[in-house]
Amino acid sequence: MTDRRQFAPATERNRGPILSILKDHLPDTGTVLEIASGSGEHAVFFAPALRPLNWQPSNYDPEQLDSVEDWLVHQPSDNLLPAISLDVTKSVWPVETSDYGGGPITAIFNANMIHISPWQACEGLMAGAQRVLPVGGQLFLYGPFKENGQHTAPSNEKFETWLKSLDPDFAVRDIEVVCDEARKNGLEHMADHSMPANNYIHIFKKT
Ligand SMILES: C[S@@+](CC[C@H](N)C(=O)[O-])C[C@H]1O[C@@H](n2cnc3c(N)ncnc32)[C@H](O)[C@@H]1O
Repeated sequence: MTDRRQFAPATERNRGPILSILKDHLPDTGTVLEIASGSGEHAVFFAPALRPLNWQPSNYDPEQLDSVEDWLVHQPSDNLLPAISLDVTKSVWPVETSDYGGGPITAIFNANMIHISPWQACEGLMAGAQRVLPVGGQLFLYGPFKENGQHTAPSNEKFETWLKSLDPDFAVRDIEVVCDEARKNGLEHMADHSMPANNYIHIFKKT
């Protein structure tokens, strides 16, 4: 049978440090919704370490959903739910419908999406987090960010040049602008942590 797994080498480098932050901050119960699961390598690494929480992978890209599905076959975990098709820019996410069977979403994790998609993806992420999270629920947002409009490292500046060659609407986002968007949607910035390779994890809480 064809193996549809994709491999994103950066996940092997960042998954340990991300997991340690998640373990420190995630709630004890419910389901973590992962937005833009990519290859699925984060999902299969995080889920077994986070029991009894459930992990819900998702993506809008059918080929990446196939990759997640095959990663789940290779590295199953009883708390890993089948990946769902979810486009953050939609006004209703499948986890909001009555036929969603994955249990209450108590946290959201999203890595490396808002810079490699139009700004509408960040708007959709924040709006969806407000709709889906309970009061006190947290959104974990991982990736590179600017601070006060400035890059935090030359490598991120170079990275942004490459992003813009793909699409002029892609950009390393300014964390202050991301926080403004979060605030508009009832999400307060609670904490941030430096991660390897000039990335950060920002934690927002629904008020
Ligand atoms: C660079 S990859 C990151 C994948 C993974 N989270 C990681 O860190 O390895 C960007 C991901 O964002 C997803 N994405 C982009 N726009 C999206 C949208 N509107 N809704 C859901 N996913 C989206 C892409 O399909 C892709 O999986």
